[in-house]
Amino acid sequence: MRLQGKVAVVSGAASGIGRAVAKKLAAEGARVVIGDRNLTGVEETASLIGEAATAVALDVSDETSAQAIIDQAVGLHGGLDILCNIAGVLDFGRFEDVDRGRWDRVISVNLTGVYHMCHAAMPHLVGRRGNIVNMASAAGLVGVPYNAAYSASKHGVVGLTRALALEFSKEGVRVNAVCPGGVKTPMLQQAPPENIDWTMVMRSASWLDGGEMADPEDIADTVAFLASSEARRITGAAFAVDGGQTAG
Ligand SMILES: NC(=O)c1ccc[n+]([C@@H]2O[C@H](COP(=O)([O-])OP(=O)(O)OC[C@H]3O[C@@H](n4cnc5c(N)ncnc54)[C@H](O)[C@@H]3O)[C@@H](O)[C@H]2O)c1
Repeated sequence: MRLQGKVAVVSGAASGIGRAVAKKLAAEGARVVIGDRNLTGVEETASLIGEAATAVALDVSDETSAQAIIDQAVGLHGGLDILCNIAGVLDFGRFEDVDRGRWDRVISVNLTGVYHMCHAAMPHLVGRRGNIVNMASAAGLVGVPYNAAYSASKHGVVGLTRALALEFSKEGVRVNAVCPGGVKTPMLQQAPPENIDWTMVMRSASWLDGGEMADPEDIADTVAFLASSEARRITGAAFAVDGGQTAG
């Protein structure tokens, strides 16, 4: 119960890693206000958790929507201690096929969405020496072929994380990123386009367990650790949970 009495907001909680993070934080004692653009899915997550969870419709790419979930958490629980930015989208494709619309969609959710949420939450986190955990990716540390927009967005999340960690260090607000390799979630169940060289993508797979992908709970455990006081000396980290994918 490392998060007893804490209030957390989790984006992207209808599915995959976000759902596992919401469940883990609640299991550690936090009250969680969980958002997703998939309202049915996030309500299902809330029903799995019970009364510690409140489900909210959220589009992180919309500044007003991001502000609303933070306001709702503060209104309900009197403050905010933890922000977990997990919502994200993947868009595999050859670079020449990534038109401006596809580029903008990925950046607006994965990077601008994190900005919106951090910007709305920061005044509350400053008041309570809270912390932020941003979901980046191994693709935020190294390039992944056929993932130009996604890799750029996740490198951006790592940069934003490091800048905020330094700027808010005096206020005691910690800001960290988690960088998973492949995780067994619906995101990776989308069929990749046929015109890409899949062997190039698979060169950058996990080394642990013969390339086995992680479970969402493996990532949620790291998020909960970083959000807890056990990580009180950790800020500005881009914490790889990738089975060694980015080690060499
Ligand atoms: N699955 C992987 O292999 C992997 C690896 C590294 C990083 N990640 C990152 O982990 C995070 C979670 O991904 P996942 O694998 O659980 O995928 P997922 O598709 O299962 O979950 C993503 C969730 O984000 C929500 N979402 C998308 N756009 C949104 C928006 N604009 N506003 C609010 N919610 C939105 C979706 O509805 C969905 O519930 C993402 O940021 C992803 O980039 C995933």
